[in-house]
Amino acid sequence: MGERAPETPETEAAGQLPQHVAIIMDGNGRWAAKRLRPRFEGHLAGLERARNAVRYLDRHYHLKYLTLFGFSTENWNRPTQEVNIILRVFQEIIDREARALHKLGIRLRHLGRREELPKGLRASIEKASELTKDNTGMTFSLAFNYGGRGEILDAVRRIVADNVSPEEINEELFATYLYTAGIPDVDLLIRTGGELRTSNFMTWQSVYSEYYFTDVFWPDFDEEEIDKALAAYRQRQRRFGGL
Ligand code: IPE
Ligand code: IPE
Ligand code: MG
Repeated sequence: MGERAPETPETEAAGQLPQHVAIIMDGNGRWAAKRLRPRFEGHLAGLERARNAVRYLDRHYHLKYLTLFGFSTENWNRPTQEVNIILRVFQEIIDREARALHKLGIRLRHLGRREELPKGLRASIEKASELTKDNTGMTFSLAFNYGGRGEILDAVRRIVADNVSPEEINEELFATYLYTAGIPDVDLLIRTGGELRTSNFMTWQSVYSEYYFTDVFWPDFDEEEIDKALAAYRQRQRRFGGL
């Protein structure tokens, strides 16, 4: 897959493309409110948008790693009715989309505390991950019931349980205990919906990410908006502390 020629001239412009893009898909509720519609319609429209974004970033940019933030560990604080709707629509889309992702050679991964999710959703995630696990195309990670601090604590717990000696612990080793084991750090972190915060997302993996914030609500984040974000990234000079 990596050998495919770029599809359009934009992809030949100066500046490197990111290897790993992570997106905080925010603004579904406000998108719906603006239309005087119930919040769940925003979530439905947001999922449709996520479906398109996966395909577009794969086909057009040949992106290797895409991570989408679908539900945070803090989102349990929302009214039960909204939480249940979100859980349900995600399960539906995973069930509906698994085969199609598989056909595209995409590997689906879940990032987050799976054991706290309802059984049905857990089963759907496990089934889709199993189906696509040997695919060599884009790795599409769904952060669901994900929290960055929780991820770090879970890593610490497992390191302790493995009796790892203090001298052995370094950044490389630590990263293998994170949910994202084997996935490189985030190059470009996008947040839609206008808020200027990261809301406990990719805490370890984003320390040197380039950030892109936009007021556009997630359900309106179309291909043109993706192009804008990628173009902005390509203007950045990444120095990693060097010169
Ligand atoms: C993001 O949209 C989706 C989730 C957090 C599940 P929101 O539901 O946060 O939408 P706003 O921010 O209220 O508009
Ligand atoms: C972050 O959005 C979580 C997801 C997009 C899944 P929130 O809407 O939950 O974040 P806050 O509450 O504005 O920080
Ligand atoms: Mg929000």
